[in-house]
Amino acid sequence: MTGRDQAPLLEVRDLVVHFYTRAGVVQGARGVSFKVMHGQTLGIVGESGSGKSVSVQAVMGLINTPGRIISGDIRFKGRSIMDAAGRDYVRRVRGKEISMIFQDPMTSLNPVFTVGTQITEVLRHHLKMNKKAARKRAMELLELVDINAPGKRLKQYPHELSGGMRQRVMIATALACEPELIIADEPTTALDVTIQAQILELLADLQERLNVSVIMITHDLGVIAQLCHRLAVMYAGRIVEEGDAVKVFENPGHPYTMGLLGATPRLDKVEDRMVCINGAPPNLIAPPRGCAFSPRCQMAREECSNPQSLAYITKDRQVCCWCAAKSREREN
Ligand SMILES: Nc1ncnc2c1ncn2[C@@H]1O[C@H](COP(=O)(O)OP(=O)(O)OP(=O)(O)O)[C@@H](O)[C@H]1O
Ligand SMILES: [Mg+2]
Repeated sequence: MTGRDQAPLLEVRDLVVHFYTRAGVVQGARGVSFKVMHGQTLGIVGESGSGKSVSVQAVMGLINTPGRIISGDIRFKGRSIMDAAGRDYVRRVRGKEISMIFQDPMTSLNPVFTVGTQITEVLRHHLKMNKKAARKRAMELLELVDINAPGKRLKQYPHELSGGMRQRVMIATALACEPELIIADEPTTALDVTIQAQILELLADLQERLNVSVIMITHDLGVIAQLCHRLAVMYAGRIVEEGDAVKVFENPGHPYTMGLLGATPRLDKVEDRMVCINGAPPNLIAPPRGCAFSPRCQMAREECSNPQSLAYITKDRQVCCWCAAKSREREN
C-alpha cells in the first residue's frame, strides 16, 4: 500500500456549523469529524435533521446565510480547503475534484437550458474545452451513465426526460471533470423503487470502474449494506458511530445504531428502512448536555449527561457512548 492510499482523500475535523434563525441559533453540526479514503464509499445515515446534509454542504462550500461554519477544518488531499490562503484551491477543487449529486435533479438542473448546454458548460468552465470537444465529451458521459440516443438527449430540456433519466444526467454532469470524490445526498429518494435500484447499481458500477471515492447519504440501510465500505451514523449534529459497514451491521456499538438496525441486527436480514425509535430527536437550538440520545436511550444512566466524544472501542471502530466505552474497558 502506498502513502497516497493510506492518507485520507477527505478529512473533516471537528466541524461546527450554526444557523442564525429567528427562533435561535440552530447547531446544525456540533463537532463532526470523518474521513473518506481513496476509492472507498462512506455511507452516512441518521434521522431527518441530524446534520447529514449540513456536513457535506460544508465540504462543498454551500453553507450560506443564515448559516456559518464556526470552526473546524476540511482537508482534501492533505490541504485545507477552508482557509483564506487557499481560496483559489477551494474554488478549483469544488465542482471539479469534488462533485455533488442532489436528491432532486429538477432543482439542480436548470429548466431553461438543454441537457447538452448544462453538461458542456461544466466542461468548458472547469476544463476549458472548446465547444466541439465539450460536445463530444458530453456524448461520452451520457453513454457512460447508460443513456440511449445521447445525441438526441443533449438537445432535450430536463422536463422532457423521466426522473431516472434526469438523475443519470446529474450523475453524468457530476462525472464531467473526472472528480476524485462524489457526494450523493439521497440520490434516489425522489425516484420509484425499480429506478432507484438501477441508479444505485450504476453508481456502484461507476465507483468501481472509475475508482472514485463516494459519500452516500441515505435512509436506506440496504443501500449501505450493498455499496458502502464505511458507515457513519449521525445523531443531533454529531457522528455517534463510525466503522467498517459490515462490522457495524453485525455488531452495532452505539445504542442509537442498535435502534436503527433493529434490536438484533443481522447482515442477512438488513431492514430496508431504518426502524422507528421512540421519542423525537432533540431541538438543535438547545440540545441536551452530554449525550443527545440519552433522553431516548434505554441504557441511559447518570454519567450520560457528561460530555462524551467519539472514542475507539476497537482499533477500527469509534463510538460516542459511555456505556459502549465501559463495556469495552471490561473486555480488555
Ligand atoms: N438553511 C438553514 N436554516 C436553518 N436551519 C437549517 C438550515 N439548513 C439546515 N438547518 C438545520 O440544521 C439541522 C441539520 O439539518 P440537515 O439538513 O443537515 O439534516 P439532514 O440530516 O440532512 O436531514 P434530512 O434527512 O431530512 O435530509 C436541522 O436542524 C436543520 O433544521
Ligand atoms: Mg438532508
